[in-house]
Amino acid sequence: AGTISNVQELAKQPIKTIPKHFVYQPDPSAPYGGRPSQMLPTIDMNRLVSGKDFHVELGKLHSTCKDWGIFQLVNHGINSSILEKVKHEVEGFYRLPLEEKMKFRIREGDAETEGYGTVERDGGKFDWSDRFLMIINPIHKRKPHLFPQLPSSMRNALESYILEVQKLGKKLLCSMAKALDMEEKEMMEYFDDGMQSLRMTYYPPCPQPELAMGITPHSDFTLITILRQLCDVDGLHIHKDGVWFPVSFLPDALVINVGDNLEIFSNGVYRSIEHKVVPNAEKERMSVAIFINPKFEVDVGPSPSLINPQNPPLFKRVNPHQFLKGFFSRKIKGRLYLQSMR
Ligand code: SIN
Ligand code: FE2
Repeated sequence: AGTISNVQELAKQPIKTIPKHFVYQPDPSAPYGGRPSQMLPTIDMNRLVSGKDFHVELGKLHSTCKDWGIFQLVNHGINSSILEKVKHEVEGFYRLPLEEKMKFRIREGDAETEGYGTVERDGGKFDWSDRFLMIINPIHKRKPHLFPQLPSSMRNALESYILEVQKLGKKLLCSMAKALDMEEKEMMEYFDDGMQSLRMTYYPPCPQPELAMGITPHSDFTLITILRQLCDVDGLHIHKDGVWFPVSFLPDALVINVGDNLEIFSNGVYRSIEHKVVPNAEKERMSVAIFINPKFEVDVGPSPSLINPQNPPLFKRVNPHQFLKGFFSRKIKGRLYLQSMR
């Protein structure tokens, strides 16, 4: 992966055309700028956990996870000062000189591609983004050369944010278990001490946004992903009902999407949404995603409480290690891995 390791630096050059390893074949089903942006459905966390409307909101959560596999969460309860600090620190990180960021670069031979840099995709293509990925949970899986080496103000900001997101993730998964009519403790067996990672992504402005991918189309490996967009620049597109279109959401919201493992666990009731990021011609964009995965010690498969003669299992039981090996092997492509689990 030697040719290009930093898109941010490249984008600072006065280039009018992008190098060919960033050029993707235009997708005929998704002409650039072809469709209007749609507002993501909204789930209100307050209503979900308390009050008389709780059943109504739970029903809405259920139908949204089935039909969309993605929504915006409002009244999520994460303090705006925590969110502001995260924004400040992540922006600060990407403003550092290249050599400072390169101290965290992806190390050769790291199968999980943790660290800072750009990852080569199928066919030698690169996304128009730089990202910093690290495992954050279980704590003993944190790489000594990554999280612990960050500036202390950044560590503190991320640490408080991670704790809040973990609490939120747990509540959301409990609500989903309830909505799916399964035992909460079945879900918690996956969640408690599960594998979680965090990714900070920087999308520089792109002189030919119609040719590049900020992130190539994929579905997430996760149970759920909790995404925070750090600036008022959209770019997330989803593939729903056979078409691609951009989505928008409120500035204070968190974006939650269903991942492959929840599609499997719910035996196909919830949908792991395929998505991508399209770069912006003029503006940079940054986001922070936290990936909530099942714990690695248990095999993943459809929840036994959802299986009966009318609902046979739609997926095999697999060990997450196995699943993830394929997933991280750079060949991320649409919902391919999920299909191979059928
Ligand atoms: C993704 O994680 O796939 C997209 C995140 C983003 O919107 O930046
Ligand atoms: Fe994703």
